[in-house]
Amino acid sequence: MFCSCIFIWLIVAAVALKIYLKLRNRQNGSYACLVGKTAIVTGSNTDFYTKTVIFTIAFKIIGIGYITALDFASRGARVILACRNENKAKDAQWKIIKETKNPNVIYKLLDMTSFESVRNFAKDINATEERIDILVNNAGAGGLGNHKTGDGNQITMQVNHISGFLLTHLLLDKIKKSAPSRIVNVASIAARWSKLKVEKMNNFPTDINASLADGQMYANSKLANILFTTELAAKLSGTDVTVNVLHPGAIKTEIFRRVPGILKIIVDALANLYFKTPEEGAQTTIYVATSKELQGVTGKLFDNCKQIELYGVAKNPDLATKVWTKCEELAKLKSAEKIK
Ligand SMILES: *[C@@H]1O[C@H](CO)[C@@H](O)[C@H](O)[C@H]1NC(C)=O
Ligand SMILES: *[C@@H]1O[C@H](CO)[C@@H](O)[C@H](O)[C@H]1NC(C)=O
Ligand SMILES: *[C@@H]1O[C@H](CO)[C@@H](O)[C@H](O)[C@H]1NC(C)=O
Repeated sequence: MFCSCIFIWLIVAAVALKIYLKLRNRQNGSYACLVGKTAIVTGSNTDFYTKTVIFTIAFKIIGIGYITALDFASRGARVILACRNENKAKDAQWKIIKETKNPNVIYKLLDMTSFESVRNFAKDINATEERIDILVNNAGAGGLGNHKTGDGNQITMQVNHISGFLLTHLLLDKIKKSAPSRIVNVASIAARWSKLKVEKMNNFPTDINASLADGQMYANSKLANILFTTELAAKLSGTDVTVNVLHPGAIKTEIFRRVPGILKIIVDALANLYFKTPEEGAQTTIYVATSKELQGVTGKLFDNCKQIELYGVAKNPDLATKVWTKCEELAKLKSAEKIK
């Protein structure tokens, strides 16, 4: 009797939580038309997936870039899918064209683990595209482990931050010429757990458990996204190019990952129920990239289609400047490419 009573209350609580979360999720609410505009979305595969264990909490982001690209295409934009996996990207391209009837969706190879790939991509875009109105730095991954890229950087830091930093520099001339234009950086709530130290930002921590270290690298790279945004906004003031950063949400917690048997099945089912869908996860990106009410708004952080305050170290301009200088070095920027 007692037992079934508890069980019923658990179900009621679970349903109430689901309803609360659903109601809390905001839609992008933007009716902006993007005809005549060009948008680049990095990491816009159909099934982009990242899973990072941070203090045993896992983050999973599925297809946010894809939904973002789909939304832009439905607004009439020319959309460039910038991805590493050609098959998945072509699949995404085909699906978007089919669904939106907008044939102006193209795919170009971009591998964030390689500066050569980033440079080739930027060169190609510079030579072939007339304009860039929106750049969404969405590509990212977690759980990549203790590896170095061919460019000598820690892989998570390069994929999630340095390559986007480099790409933004290389495309900036064209973005400026297309102004008013927008740069949108997709960070993560994980940035809150960052223990970023400038001199160690490119080092995988070896003094802690490897999965914690992975989470720490991920968090550091996401804080770097935020610091990059505020610093770039300051450098671009007066240009009519805005740059903002956001938390997509789309979180699955796996706190109960090690619970046994039948309980795990129930817990997993609940966790799946509480995922943000890719559609929900992409709303803030779409809002920040297109909303008319954000015209001229720059250097700000967004969550759930709302501006939120920068927290703690994320609003430390001194740290932002130091991280910027460090990233110029890690990205191997030539002096002519640096933003004065
Ligand atoms: C963004 O918001 C607009 C307006 O509410 C809506 O029509 C569109 O479907 C939304 N995009 C997505 C991907 O949900
Ligand atoms: C981009 O193209 C222009 C000419 O259209 C050229 O002057 C410029 O150097 C190119 N920039 C890069 C980074 O390749
Ligand atoms: C790291 O943590 C995982 C999960 O908690 C555990 O299985 C593993 O043994 C730990 N490794 C070390 C070296 O402590």
